[in-house]
Amino acid sequence: MSKTKAPGAGGPAERAAQLRAELARHDHAYYVLQKPSISDRAYDALYRELADLEAAHPDLATPDSPTRRVGSELPEGEKFATIPHRRPMLSLDNTYNEEEVRHFDAETVRKRLAKEGVSEAPEYAVELKIDGTAVSLWYERGVFVRGLTRGDGTRGEEITANLRTLKEIPLRLLTAGEPPAFVELRGEVYLPRTEFERTNKEREDAGLETFVNPRNAAAGALKQKNPAAVAERRLHIFIHTPGEMEGASFSRYHEFLDAVKAWGLPVNPHRAVCASIDGVLAFIAEYEKKRHGYDYDTDGIVVKVDQLALHRTLGTTSKAPRYAIAYKYKPEEAETTVLDIEAHVGKTGVLTPRARFEPVFVSGTTVTYASLHNQDEIDRKDIRIGDRVIVEKAGEIIPQVVRVLTEKRAGDLPKYRLPSKCPVCGTKTVRREDEVALRCPNARCPGRFRERIVYFASRGCMDIEALGEKMIDRLIGAGLLKDLPDIYALDRSKLIELERMGEKSVDNVLANIEASKKNDLARLLAALNIPHVGTRNAELLAEHFETLEALRAAPAEKLEQVEGVGEVLAAAIVAFFQDADERRRLDALVAAGLNTRSLTAATRKQAAAAGGPFAGKVFVLTGTLAKLGREEASQLIKDRGGKTASSVSKKTDYVLAGEEAGSKLKKAEQLGVKVIDEAEFERMLKG
Ligand code: IVH
Repeated sequence: MSKTKAPGAGGPAERAAQLRAELARHDHAYYVLQKPSISDRAYDALYRELADLEAAHPDLATPDSPTRRVGSELPEGEKFATIPHRRPMLSLDNTYNEEEVRHFDAETVRKRLAKEGVSEAPEYAVELKIDGTAVSLWYERGVFVRGLTRGDGTRGEEITANLRTLKEIPLRLLTAGEPPAFVELRGEVYLPRTEFERTNKEREDAGLETFVNPRNAAAGALKQKNPAAVAERRLHIFIHTPGEMEGASFSRYHEFLDAVKAWGLPVNPHRAVCASIDGVLAFIAEYEKKRHGYDYDTDGIVVKVDQLALHRTLGTTSKAPRYAIAYKYKPEEAETTVLDIEAHVGKTGVLTPRARFEPVFVSGTTVTYASLHNQDEIDRKDIRIGDRVIVEKAGEIIPQVVRVLTEKRAGDLPKYRLPSKCPVCGTKTVRREDEVALRCPNARCPGRFRERIVYFASRGCMDIEALGEKMIDRLIGAGLLKDLPDIYALDRSKLIELERMGEKSVDNVLANIEASKKNDLARLLAALNIPHVGTRNAELLAEHFETLEALRAAPAEKLEQVEGVGEVLAAAIVAFFQDADERRRLDALVAAGLNTRSLTAATRKQAAAAGGPFAGKVFVLTGTLAKLGREEASQLIKDRGGKTASSVSKKTDYVLAGEEAGSKLKKAEQLGVKVIDEAEFERMLKG
């Protein structure tokens, strides 16, 4: 392939269409098939080429372009439009045991078919019932044009922009020939368990309330007004029901699913077609065990007559079809007593209520605590100290109170209210105007300090492995740890006095702490608990300002020059560094000898000063590099004292062009900027 191939022999429009199709194929391979067909870097290069092309020719941008997945926010105060469904989105009748499943087969299906004079024996398609939130997707001539929530079953909310952010949903169906004139696909949007845990952890760190379960988190995510926020939630989907269709027809339900898969949408792989109800029951029994092994919650099995013609014969009631039922698994439950409700103070001061139980064994482990999330949740379930309650594990992982056995309530137990005083320091708790959460406003609350210390030492921050929660609690208990700088004042003589602390453990703790002093500035910034500054922002700030001193002295305008730092974040950073307590704390950390320089920035500076072919030179990258990724190449340039820019100008020293380089290459040629290929770049690296 030539290195400077023109952007599509047929001109930009053709090239853009080609790129869109290619990117859609790679998205499908990556997100749906989970078999990446291209490196991240090469994908990035194609994506950028398309974005550049669309920027240069705005008329080329089409709604199905992968560059347009994340649209703009719904204006303030505006609600989602409600749109009538083409046909009602029904529910399913539930069954809970073998007898009810057999009754469905014998009575609901076979008897009715016989009455209608149909002799064909029903076969049953069986699949997992996904515990998510139902949506409907409309494709017109293959293009995704509309997405709706279930709503009340008759009308749904128009959440097209939010659904477009799900990378598993193709913006254009992958059909070989002419796509069907219209298809409506219904399915379940869900949040994988691992994502649910990640989201809740992030929310906890940010002082926000946590979600009760993945289903609520998914449903909540889809109703957000900002598609960019939806994209961050990493939602997934499985299609499970055909809606209206023009230009496509199927005789069997399983053939419909096969077609959906070929069109590029996810279909759950755990499915079968059974010739008899015994086969259905065997499938149910098999998945009762297996279902816990997946990264999504399932609450049963859906059984559907496979012959679509029989769906029409059997029809529906006003609420549910007669040709399908859900078999619901019993979640493992246990009964126990709420011994206490404790309000746990987080590092930002948010009080989270949690129930302490008489220990009870559920789904493989002993459960002693469950988060009750917030006051609303306690009120809704009416949970009181002393109550007998049913607990289960949401998604078999997170313990939760399902319901209170009010009939067993002994006498008149008082209702629970989150305390009006912080349980750790006694300060009056407050509710901020724009929040549901109750907080301890005392910045010096020991409860908050404990959480701050835990966070400071955690793996993503200062990574002091020996300082886990248990060790921190022991040190706090011994009066050795009250605030962050105390970590660096710990000494051998005090540690050795602690119970169950041998020489070796002491050495280990001290060595870990000592090593953390050398951490990059980015780690220290992430560990400080500056509002809204997580790992990524900490890295950007460290690289930009290079030293803690420079960052501390930076006014808001300077902070806003950093990528991703807006007005709110800049103000929060300024306020943090102006706070007298934080200043004192930071001064003490610096005095303890913590590194306050950005190591990456320092290496780069040194390289620039040392000279060489990269020092001070501006590079623009375009096209796909065969060996290196863009990220990697940029890193190599910066590490050697060079800079990278996104567009070609007179200030550009080199354009590094890979395969299928686009408009930037042309621009470079026009401006007479030196163009190098990957081989030349490698020579420069060596030289
Ligand atoms: S078929 C007429 N299949 O469960 C409705 N539904 O409790 C046909 N659900 O509203 C639905 N997984 O949102 C079907 N494999 C699956 C499903 C599934 C989850 C949801 C769906 C439905 C609800 C009924």
